[in-house]
Amino acid sequence: MSKTAEIKFEDKTYKLPIVVGTENEVGVDIGKLRGESGLITLDPGYKNTGATTSAITFLDGEKGILRYRGYSIEELAEKSSFLEVSYLLIYGELPTVPQLTDFQNQIKVHTLVHEDIKKILEGFPSNAHPMGVLSSLVTALTAFYPESLDPNRSAEKVNLSIIRIMAKMPTFAAWAYKNEIGHPVNYPDNTLDYCGNFLKMMFALPAEKYDVDPVIASALNKLLILHADHEQNCSTSTVRIVGSAQASLYASISAGINALWGPLHGGANSAVINMLENIRKDGGDTKKWMAKAKDKDDPFRLMGFGHRVYKNFDPRAKIIKKAADDVLDKLGVNDPILEIAKGLEQEALSDPYFVERKLYPNVDFYSGIIYRALGIPVDMFTVMFALGRLPGWIAQWKEMRENNEPIGRPRQIYVGENLRAYKEMNKR
Ligand code: ACO
Repeated sequence: MSKTAEIKFEDKTYKLPIVVGTENEVGVDIGKLRGESGLITLDPGYKNTGATTSAITFLDGEKGILRYRGYSIEELAEKSSFLEVSYLLIYGELPTVPQLTDFQNQIKVHTLVHEDIKKILEGFPSNAHPMGVLSSLVTALTAFYPESLDPNRSAEKVNLSIIRIMAKMPTFAAWAYKNEIGHPVNYPDNTLDYCGNFLKMMFALPAEKYDVDPVIASALNKLLILHADHEQNCSTSTVRIVGSAQASLYASISAGINALWGPLHGGANSAVINMLENIRKDGGDTKKWMAKAKDKDDPFRLMGFGHRVYKNFDPRAKIIKKAADDVLDKLGVNDPILEIAKGLEQEALSDPYFVERKLYPNVDFYSGIIYRALGIPVDMFTVMFALGRLPGWIAQWKEMRENNEPIGRPRQIYVGENLRAYKEMNKR
C-alpha cells in the first residue's frame, strides 16, 4: 500500500500522498490540500518546498553529493568537456562521438550574431555592468528570431533556439567585456573549440593571432562544468517559472541571468574577491573580519561561505580549491589573496559559529581566484557563471515544457489591512 502523511486540522484529517524519488528523497504531495481543506502551506524562501520533480540533477547537501543525470561531478569535471556535459544535461545521455561532433558543428554554425546586435551593444555606456548587457542581448534575440515566441512550435524549432543560445552566449559575454573596456569586438573563430573561441573573443584584438593556452582553456572547461547545473536554485527556479508562463527560451534565460546577478547567488564570486581585496588592503587581519561576520549588528557576511543546501561541504568547492592551486602554480601566479582565502577557510572550519551553523566554503569561494588568475576581471565573474549555467537552465526549461508543467503561481497569507472605507483627501 502506498504511504500517506496526514494533516489534522480542527476536527478533520487529510491524507496526503507521499512521493519518493529515485534516490529515496521523500516528499509530501500537497497538490490537493487547498481544494480539500482550504489550507495552504507557508514556506518563505521555499526552504522545504519541492517545486517540481526533475530527472536532471541530484544533490545531497548533507553528504556533499552532486550528480548530473546520475554522473558524479568529480568524474565529469575530470574526464569530460563542457559541451559533452551540456549535451548530457540537455538531452539526457552522454553523447557518442558522432553525436558530440554534430552538436559542436551545429553550435559553430550559429556563433555569429546579427550585426544589428552590435548597435544595441554600442548603445550601452562603457561602465554598464556586463550582466545587464548580457541579459539585454539575450532578450534582444527574441526580436531577431520572433518565431521563438511561439509556444507551440515544433521540437525541432525549439532545438534550434537551444543551439542558437548555446552558440551566441559566449559571443555576447565576450562582447559585453569588450564594451566595458572600450575595445572593438572580436568575431567568433570557429576553428577553435567552445572555450578556445571564447578566450580568443575575450582577450585577442580583432585580426590578432591568438594562441589558446591549454592550461587556461582546461581550467575554464572545468569551471564551466562545475557551474553547469544545480537543480532548483534561485536562477533556475526563475527560468522555470518564467518559462511556465510560456515565455520564450530567450526571455526565460534572460530572467535567469538577472536572478543569478544577485550577490547572494551568482554575484557572490565577485563579492568574494572584493572582500578578500578589502581584507588585504586592511592589513590582512582575518580574525578581525571573522569577528565582523559573526557580529549580528554588523551586516558583513563572509562571502563564499554557507549554502542553502550544502550543510556538510560543497563538492564543487573541493574540486575548485585544487584547481585554483594547480592553475596558479602552472601559470606561475602568486596571488596574495589566495593566502588570505586559505587563512579564512582554516579559521572558519574550526570556529564554533561556522561549525554550528554548518557554514563551509561554497563554489564561489575559490572560483574568483581562478578567474583572476586567468585574467578575467571581477565584474565578469558572474557572466562566467552564467555561461556555465546556461545548459542547466536550458535543460530545466526543456524539462518543464516537456512535462507540461502548469504556470507557476504561489499563494500567500495576507497580513495587511482589512476592508476600509475610502476617505476624501481633505478629510484624512
Ligand atoms: N557569514 C556569516 N554568517 C552567515 C553566513 C556567512 N556567509 N551565511 C549564513 N550565516 C549565518 C546566518 O547569519 C544565520 O545565523 P543565525 O542562525 O544566527 O541567524 C545562519 O548562518 C543561517 O543562515 P541563513 O542566511 O538563514 O542561511 P540561508 O540558507 O538562508 O542562506 C546563503 C544561504 C544565502 C548562501 C548564506 O549562507 C549567505 O549569505 N552566504 C554568503 C553569500 C554567498 O556566498 N552566496 C553564494 C551561495 S552559492 C551560489 O549561489 C552559487
